[in-house]
Amino acid sequence: MERTLILVKPDGVQRGLVGEIIARFERRGLQIAALKFLSVSNALAEQHYQEHAGKPFFRSLVDYITSCPIVAMVVEGPKAIDVCRAAIGATDPLAATPGSIRGDYGATIGRNLVHGSDGPQAAAREIELFFSPSELHQYDRSLTRWIAE
Ligand code: RTP
Ligand code: MG
Repeated sequence: MERTLILVKPDGVQRGLVGEIIARFERRGLQIAALKFLSVSNALAEQHYQEHAGKPFFRSLVDYITSCPIVAMVVEGPKAIDVCRAAIGATDPLAATPGSIRGDYGATIGRNLVHGSDGPQAAAREIELFFSPSELHQYDRSLTRWIAE
């Protein structure tokens, strides 16, 4: 079982796609472990995107993610990180497969609607940035055995 951090970025909120985006992950069989609506501070944005510090797009990335409240969620399931990355699609929506979130709703790399952790280390670090342990919920769903063997 794996957990990953998903963010519905400001453009997803502004465009009224919160429900649609959350539904994509639910329908894919992922289980919600945590969910909140929050404004991202400059400090949190810089920590979250620390791997991109110094790149030409870093400042606009921080401005973008802090520009309006976002939805943060933790979802879990077998291979949740890769399942979510596949559901989200390529970073540049132009290259994202139709049927993925970015492939269906995105048009430009700087407004690509959703974030998903890119590996186990990133997931652990990012989940801790956005959620305290008491905000993460473990519970049994009766349909889990119908999603994974
Ligand atoms: P994310 O972290 O948001 O899930 O996206 P990602 O893994 O698919 O892409 P990543 O390489 O981590 O880049 C983070 C975000 O920075 C913006 N970006 N702009 N102008 C550019 O060349 C460029 N490259 C990346 C995107 O908004 C991307 O989601
Ligand atoms: Mg990334």
